[in-house]
Amino acid sequence: MDTQRTPTADQIRTAWDGLASGFDEFVTPETASIAQETLRILDLQPGMRLVDVAAGTGALSFPAARTGAHVVATDISPVMIDLLNDRARAEGLANVEGRAMDGTALDLEADTFDVAVSVNGVSLFPDLPTSLAEMVRVTKPGGRVVLVSFGPPPAVEFIGFVMGAMKAEVPGFTPLPVDPPPLPFQVADPDVMRSRLTEAGLSEVSVHRSTCHMSFDSAERLLTTFMFSNPIGARFVAELTAEQKSAVEQRLAGMLKDRAGEQGRSGDQSGSDNRGAELHCAVNIGVGIVS
Ligand SMILES: C[S@@+](CC[C@H](N)C(=O)[O-])C[C@H]1O[C@@H](n2cnc3c(N)ncnc32)[C@H](O)[C@@H]1O
Repeated sequence: MDTQRTPTADQIRTAWDGLASGFDEFVTPETASIAQETLRILDLQPGMRLVDVAAGTGALSFPAARTGAHVVATDISPVMIDLLNDRARAEGLANVEGRAMDGTALDLEADTFDVAVSVNGVSLFPDLPTSLAEMVRVTKPGGRVVLVSFGPPPAVEFIGFVMGAMKAEVPGFTPLPVDPPPLPFQVADPDVMRSRLTEAGLSEVSVHRSTCHMSFDSAERLLTTFMFSNPIGARFVAELTAEQKSAVEQRLAGMLKDRAGEQGRSGDQSGSDNRGAELHCAVNIGVGIVS
């Protein structure tokens, strides 16, 4: 599969619009631990203004708004933003506002936010320098630009498990390329992330390496989460035959059961503890100050 092609903005919008509902149901809840770790580092204060770039359906925007920050959540996908705004209304949260826009050309005034943050967002854009420059532009002098990205694929176990199961079950399977890595992993190396933030003109750049967690109670849920997590994941799953998909799920079920056993949990719904298996997820959180 070609994972290196550069898509157009229209192709990007259409692809993410198509994933949005499944992304909201399966991926956004699994991002809670990453959002929590990011907010722990950010230590937001009530009244701060935060822009979340490529916010999806608000995995970070909602917990940020609950701290009392004023959040503008932006994303190229209007369907993601509609889901986010629906949830804000349903929860009665007036301090989070979703707006559809391209992260490489933010329709926002310069020097207006205390924090500009993006979680697995601009780190997967084909034009990372332009999107970082936009985050810097809209942030006030002294404010922070924060880039959050997965670490290397094997250390992001929900991806590593699926790649391992596909490699075992699909003849001729082509895994994710390593050099260069696909776009979602372009700053998976903390040194590369540090360089990109420094090249964007930020000062006092630091990269925090964290391990976050995701829990899966079935192989089907794990594969579905992988499929909705990114258009690349969706293509991997779409290319499986029905037999291959079933074999991959069986292989994943065994892997989850082994992991659950190591953790003293139940890997299926039949046990008394149905929390399933906890998978680790390496995350880099890069922070720089705008001068
Ligand atoms: C992996 S999701 C991450 C969403 C969210 N930050 C989270 O952690 O749940 C990537 C998001 O980037 C958005 N996106 C992709 N290209 C974009 C662009 N050029 N401008 C703005 N958003 C974009 C997609 O619509 C999608 O919501």
